[in-house]
Amino acid sequence: MPSILAIESSCDETSASVCIDGKILSNFIANQKVHEQYGGVVPELASRAHMQNIVPVVDAALKTANCKLETIDAIAFTRSPGLIGSLLVGAQFAKSLSLALNKPLIAVHHMQAHVLANLIADPRPDFPFLCLTVSGGHTQIVFCESPYEMKVIGETIDDAAGEAFDKSAKLLGLPYPGGPLIDKYAKQGDPGRFKFPEPQIPGLDFSFSGLKTSILYFLQNAGKSLVYKEEFMATEEEKKNFIENNLADICASIQQRIVTILLNKLTKAAKETGITDICIAGGVSANSGLRKGLEETGKKHGWRTFIPAFEYCTDNAAMIAITAHYKYLAGDFADLSANSSARAEW
Ligand code: KG4
Ligand code: ZN
Repeated sequence: MPSILAIESSCDETSASVCIDGKILSNFIANQKVHEQYGGVVPELASRAHMQNIVPVVDAALKTANCKLETIDAIAFTRSPGLIGSLLVGAQFAKSLSLALNKPLIAVHHMQAHVLANLIADPRPDFPFLCLTVSGGHTQIVFCESPYEMKVIGETIDDAAGEAFDKSAKLLGLPYPGGPLIDKYAKQGDPGRFKFPEPQIPGLDFSFSGLKTSILYFLQNAGKSLVYKEEFMATEEEKKNFIENNLADICASIQQRIVTILLNKLTKAAKETGITDICIAGGVSANSGLRKGLEETGKKHGWRTFIPAFEYCTDNAAMIAITAHYKYLAGDFADLSANSSARAEW
């Protein structure tokens, strides 16, 4: 059974993990605080921070797992999708290790890894299952037949769910990434106080850009209208006071709308496919409203629901390691010519 060292560097987290016999022994994550002041990830700074973090992070993952490099059977890395400069740091590091140690290389798709994070710990879903993958860059419903066969059956046509959280937070004057802060303030708020519209998108696809626009107008009108109305136009001072006085209710209402958009499509997908093992994955699956909503919706429809542990929801190398474990078993190795790619093709 394989011992795998996995590296994830697709965006702004540098992470390394050791997985032996399909068990995660370490999962080390270095966050990059440098982006906070810019209100979003700055690709150039992310690549530089990966360069600084990667050696200590890999070292810490090996030490925590009590594992020596010589005993590793394969080196895995995130090949795509992500920021190209960030991906290249992890890929080059993994390739160098593979070459120096003469060990096979495994290239992993970041979005498939988010889905397979659900296989890290018990209880695990049975195949086939559905996974709603919701992150800063993606919103997908994935039909998962086996660790090797997955199909995207619904996805966003504009913003991702994480972006919807982060962009809404920005409009409220909250720092990046705003998703966790909306979650925090929403806990004290009334989700029924403000009613944001649900987009009417056919099939299993999602759209979040209309929500962002209605929040913008809602704030410009100091809560009096969801559409642009000049007669309600608030001054910057009135807008600021309105947000300050109603922050918890605004956050709870925005969160409620994003969560219902996600769960309504997931319910439709479950009905259409007849599948009852339902998972969520990706950074937004850390959202407490979504976690609670999934549980409630699952109870109502007789689903078995699965959510990875918090540390396996946001970007992490353990999900790359578990995916690589299955790839190793299938003999699916990459060679040194494996190209990193910013794009998300499966
Ligand atoms: O999967 P992830 O760590 O990175 C990407 O691959 O994008 O997801 C990051 C996203 C960000 O948009 C962040 O705001 C969102 O996940 N997020 C949350 C929460 N925790 C992270 N959104 C809402 N509520 C949370 N608790
Ligand atoms: Zn991700």
